[in-house]
Amino acid sequence: MAIKIDLQKQVFHLQTREASYVCGIVEGEYLAHFYYGKRIQSYNGSNAIAYIDRGFAPNPPGKPRTFSLDTLPQEYPCYGNGDFRQPAYQIEFADGTRVSDLKYETYNHNIGKSELAGLPATYPLESDTCETLTISLYDKIAKVRVILTYTVFEEKNMMTRHVRIINESTENLHLLRCLSMNIDFRDSDFELLTLYGAHNNEKNVERRQVNHQIQKIESSRGTSSPHQAPYFALLRKETTETQGDVYAFNFVYSGNFVAQVQQDHYDSVRVQMGINDFDFKWQLKPGQDFQTPEVVMSYTSQGLGASSRDFHQFYRHNLCRGHFKEKSRPILINNWEATYFDFEEKKLLEIAKKAQAVGIELFVLDDGWFGKRNDDTTSLGDWVVNEEKLPNGLNNLATSITGLGMEFGIWFEPEMISQVSDLYKQHPDWCLRIENREPTIGRGQLVLDLGNPEVINYLFNAITKILESAPITYVKWDMNRHLTDLGSAILPTIQQSEVVHRYVLGLYNLMERLTTKFSTVLFESCSSGGGRYDAGMLYYMPQTWTSDNTDAICRLSIQYGTSLVYPPVTMGCHVSTTPNHQVGRETPLQTRGVVAMAGNFGYELDVTKLEPTELAEIEQQIQHYKKYRDIFQFGDLYRLLAPTQANDAAWSMVSRDKEIAIVTYVKLLSLPAAPIKILKLQGLEETDIYEHTETGECFSGDELMNAGITVPRVKVDFHSQQWIFKKKQ
Ligand code: GLA
Repeated sequence: MAIKIDLQKQVFHLQTREASYVCGIVEGEYLAHFYYGKRIQSYNGSNAIAYIDRGFAPNPPGKPRTFSLDTLPQEYPCYGNGDFRQPAYQIEFADGTRVSDLKYETYNHNIGKSELAGLPATYPLESDTCETLTISLYDKIAKVRVILTYTVFEEKNMMTRHVRIINESTENLHLLRCLSMNIDFRDSDFELLTLYGAHNNEKNVERRQVNHQIQKIESSRGTSSPHQAPYFALLRKETTETQGDVYAFNFVYSGNFVAQVQQDHYDSVRVQMGINDFDFKWQLKPGQDFQTPEVVMSYTSQGLGASSRDFHQFYRHNLCRGHFKEKSRPILINNWEATYFDFEEKKLLEIAKKAQAVGIELFVLDDGWFGKRNDDTTSLGDWVVNEEKLPNGLNNLATSITGLGMEFGIWFEPEMISQVSDLYKQHPDWCLRIENREPTIGRGQLVLDLGNPEVINYLFNAITKILESAPITYVKWDMNRHLTDLGSAILPTIQQSEVVHRYVLGLYNLMERLTTKFSTVLFESCSSGGGRYDAGMLYYMPQTWTSDNTDAICRLSIQYGTSLVYPPVTMGCHVSTTPNHQVGRETPLQTRGVVAMAGNFGYELDVTKLEPTELAEIEQQIQHYKKYRDIFQFGDLYRLLAPTQANDAAWSMVSRDKEIAIVTYVKLLSLPAAPIKILKLQGLEETDIYEHTETGECFSGDELMNAGITVPRVKVDFHSQQWIFKKKQ
């Protein structure tokens, strides 16, 4: 059993492969947190909570002065009943007050895991040991029930948490905050790792000491955003890639989020994650409930690499869904950086022909194929083919391309509307806006109100029509601005602050319908690159365009940060032209190739303009990727050198059976007096012999992992090398 319940002591002990999570009832009525960390076989309260009469720590009625919620480590703290730290939720009642008090009522222990209505969530496979504990807390004065759900995926080393709040009273109430997860650690010796960024510069690793303040990351942009990923980890000072405690948390949600860490005055650390309470207010009528999205969390004592590999396996098997979940992903060519908006059928076919000749499998027609779209100021919403550019229609182009033996894919940006569009003429009230105010423009466009079911139906039908009009097997789903002017024409005054969450629910509904109807189409999400790269989107679309920045050297750190939580197969990575369009850098084609092979491989350049030698090199890259595609896409990632630390980066992909390891090294600048680099491999069988496929030299796994391999010195900037080691039979 992964969940052990001691009824007498009222203790719940949840066990994953490496972790124990323990909570229980104190004073007969409060749900307290006892322990989270390395797996222990049993819990008998050796770290008993010390009850001390602390200054300014108030006591619940009838309780001794030594008992205060202000100092109690809790599972789901309330507001206004004596705990002055950040609450996990807050409710505004009909009388205007905002104080509530939850007491433990009951629990339930089940095998398996239920779906979260209308929300993306992880799910068990038949082969998983998966158990769920629900704990019901109740405020009997307010008649509000809070159900905390904990699911344990024991062998996967993962837990999930979410919360449901039910209004059992006869009056309307408003949720002002409703987080998905709260943990009170009785320990503050942590560093906090987060992933910050911007457009073209996503997922930079930032690590700092937790201290006596609230350290918070958030998005209030309507999407999870490129600025902070909905991910954080608590580490020890000594934690590295290969050893040390890692508590990692990721939110399965694509809208506004908050994640915060608060060290209090007695050095406890409260850790929280959920929908951002900033500008959030949700009405619950009598009998209604609110379901929070889930947080996925894991603990390992084996460093960041192990934490990432746990997330990668879990997300690949227990989050991503559909036809392409376990399927090799095609090598694609996208025409965006080749043509931008400036193309017609002939040009596209020339690119496709050249691409097909070198082995590319899928042609993706990016932005500009619809309405009157010749730049980014018009036509979003008008999902009909642009007959000036494609006079023979989409089907003709698509069938010409499939006739070459390639697949055909297409770009949409469904959530948006251009003011210069037929849709806007017909439905100006379908966008987010506030009456009498001119809405703010982003990238020349407005945002549709996805909380409006009519908008969802329109988009479903419009996209269906296009997808049924031609042999389309891939969709790139883009989203290129954030939400402003948060007003909805269909919501009453009292519910206007529900707009953002309703938007996200509408988006999920639309994606669920479309991905179900077009179940064999490969969907890739995008938001100006990695602007909405989150687990919520991965539930519907099993890959994401990692960044609009295609420069191989910038990509080293973008992909490094992304790989902390998201699997390589989910990361769209393309070889683009040189000098690079985003930063102007010139990088050897080989390096552009091996960096793109760190994920879901493709090309994004005008192949018709390449020299025969370049085309020949691309052909070789493609053959190489195809040969090892399963390992590149589904192997285990070992990060060997962090691009953030020195003048280089290295990683390896190891097949799940440890038969093959593909090791990649990229140097940045060629330096004088550079130290000779030794790369220590990881993830091999210690006692097995591995052969270097190029030279035939053989080494034991433990030699490669401890003595390492010497990186030959090459005096070229941005040079890269790749080694393949195969186990000798
Ligand atoms: C976004 C995407 C790009 C491209 C353009 C098209 O920026 O991230 O890949 O599709 O939109 O407008």
